[in-house]
Amino acid sequence: MEKEAAKRRVEQLHALINKYNYEYHTLDDPSVPDSEYDKLMKELISIEEEHPDLKTPDSPSQRVGGAVLDAFQKVQHKTPMLSLGNAFNEEDLRDFDRRVRQSVGDVEYNVELKIDGLAVSLRYENGVFVRGATRGDGTTGEDITENLKTIRNIPLKMKRSLSIEVRGEAYMPKRSFELLNEARLERGEEPFANPRNAAAGSLRQLDPKIAAKRNLDIFVYSIAELDEMGVETQSRGLDFLDELGFKTNHERKKCSTIEEVIEIVDELKTKRADLPYEIDGIVIKVDSLDQQEELGFTAKSPRWAIAYKFPAEEVVTKLLDIELSVGRTGVVTPTAILEPVKVAGTTVQRASLHNEDLIKEKDIRLYDKVVIKKAGDIIPEVVNVLVEQRTGEEKEFSMPDECPECGSELVRIEGEVALRCINPECPAQIREGLIHFVSRNAMNIEGLGERVITQLFREDLVKNVADLYKLTREQLINLERMGEKSTDNLLQSIEKSKENSLERLLFGLGIRFIGEKAAKTLAMHFETIDRLKTASKEELLEVDEIGEKMADAIVTYFEKEEMLKLLDELEQLGVNMVYTGPKQVKAEDSDSYFAGKTIVLTGKLSEMSRNDAKAEIEALGGKITGSVSKKTDLVIAGEAAGSKLAKAEELNIEVWDEARLIRELKK
Ligand code: IVH
Repeated sequence: MEKEAAKRRVEQLHALINKYNYEYHTLDDPSVPDSEYDKLMKELISIEEEHPDLKTPDSPSQRVGGAVLDAFQKVQHKTPMLSLGNAFNEEDLRDFDRRVRQSVGDVEYNVELKIDGLAVSLRYENGVFVRGATRGDGTTGEDITENLKTIRNIPLKMKRSLSIEVRGEAYMPKRSFELLNEARLERGEEPFANPRNAAAGSLRQLDPKIAAKRNLDIFVYSIAELDEMGVETQSRGLDFLDELGFKTNHERKKCSTIEEVIEIVDELKTKRADLPYEIDGIVIKVDSLDQQEELGFTAKSPRWAIAYKFPAEEVVTKLLDIELSVGRTGVVTPTAILEPVKVAGTTVQRASLHNEDLIKEKDIRLYDKVVIKKAGDIIPEVVNVLVEQRTGEEKEFSMPDECPECGSELVRIEGEVALRCINPECPAQIREGLIHFVSRNAMNIEGLGERVITQLFREDLVKNVADLYKLTREQLINLERMGEKSTDNLLQSIEKSKENSLERLLFGLGIRFIGEKAAKTLAMHFETIDRLKTASKEELLEVDEIGEKMADAIVTYFEKEEMLKLLDELEQLGVNMVYTGPKQVKAEDSDSYFAGKTIVLTGKLSEMSRNDAKAEIEALGGKITGSVSKKTDLVIAGEAAGSKLAKAEELNIEVWDEARLIRELKK
């Protein structure tokens, strides 16, 4: 075919195939028979073969699965992909509602299904799907674009030419899952435990042709930059996604009271079995995006949403033994060793019993028949004992007086249920502390998991966290299951961890009560470990969100000679002790116009990204907040600014457009 004619026909075919595809997969309402679709697709593929330069990334032919990859590339998420806090009963939902209303007053909720699949992020540039990624650790995921292109209701080109990041849940419908497992069994292959694993397994295939055969689907539920689209609520955001050509889930409802939410949750619970896809709960979101912003996030999840999780499947098995383990803080935890049993898709043989009180309370005895379930469908737990099935061979259990690892006396600290080993040299505590130090949210040393740490510790190569930085190539390569490549990778990630910003070290040290968020707050505030070390309790209490217990724990920690020595050693070994993340400049250190001002950004900025604007203003000593109030000094309104702009006008607050902001930033 002549080039110009081919080009015109390709454009026509794109439009037709996209239309039929959308009707079939997203609207569930096809207007032509499948054979017509197949014929057009064949024609498109053959023209593209003849004219390879006409094969664009948004061509519908790309859905059949392209080249096999060697590995997935890492993708940095523009805004983190967080998880949701859980509610397990009505009380938890009412508590959530109380917290929300206390913070932001009256609210409306949008209630949605929690689809049980795999969270993915879809990046569009000028309307074209350019990259899709898994959630990964929330900050960094894997590039699975080619696999995602095979999902028919992900538009390769959306209906408007926007540059946005859409989030959703990719899943495998129940029926496809059954068919897939039947086929696998027939071929003598291991079946997937549940549709979620099947979806995850399919999307993590390096050969996109496999994903293309797996019949995956998606429901999208948000746009990362919704407020920049001039959209003001989550519910409107979902309609907007529909308009752009995405598939959203239509089992959703707006509620204005928590009682209404509870009623809907009950209704949806009864619908669960009849849905053609799996759900593992219901998500309740504050509808107003302004209020969402005001509520903000904890380190892990938004304060404006919660996931109601369905009660878990329960099964009966036998308690074979109770094992004791000593944690990082010396707490001795009993674990039930169970006769292996299948629950919610996987085999369970251990369940934490938490502490002695719980064992007594539930009257759990060795060799009892016990009911178990997976809390939040993940963590196995003993629900209760079948007392009526006792045979007489059961034995009562009591906790020992001595630490099972180091033999020193166990103590019960007043007001706590846990028994604790308080010997600071207890090997189990040191080992667990090391595991925490290298973990993902602390120093994030890849390749140094529990297994390697246990070996290093057993062979006396590492006695404290500083020793990690003294490890040599020879020492590592001699460990079990360590090859040349993994040794070099490990040495590299140990080296890299030296550059971490201070908050990772602070969290990794395992100071009592100092979680990830507090570590970050402290690092930002004090900036160097030296300043934090010498801070008094009063100074610590002045820091937002640092309470009495935390302040005491920090002071006590830095009073210990051996801790100061350890930190000196780490510093000598080259470990960074300074906060290197984005800075909040103190107002008094800046003579800029922005110094000390409380500023709200709203609407879409076109010249600069919102994150850059925020960073630049903060670097000049300004403070960015989420909602407009009497305390706001200035509102920067981009395109399609909505209710925040109206509020600013109502309160007579100064408003700038983006051009003015840029001029002032340059001054
Ligand atoms: S909203 C900030 N809405 O549940 C987190 N998540 O723990 C916002 N999920 O794997 C998530 N259906 O992909 C949201 N309607 C829904 C959802 C949903 C399923 C998944 C999500 C993530 C997990 C959150």
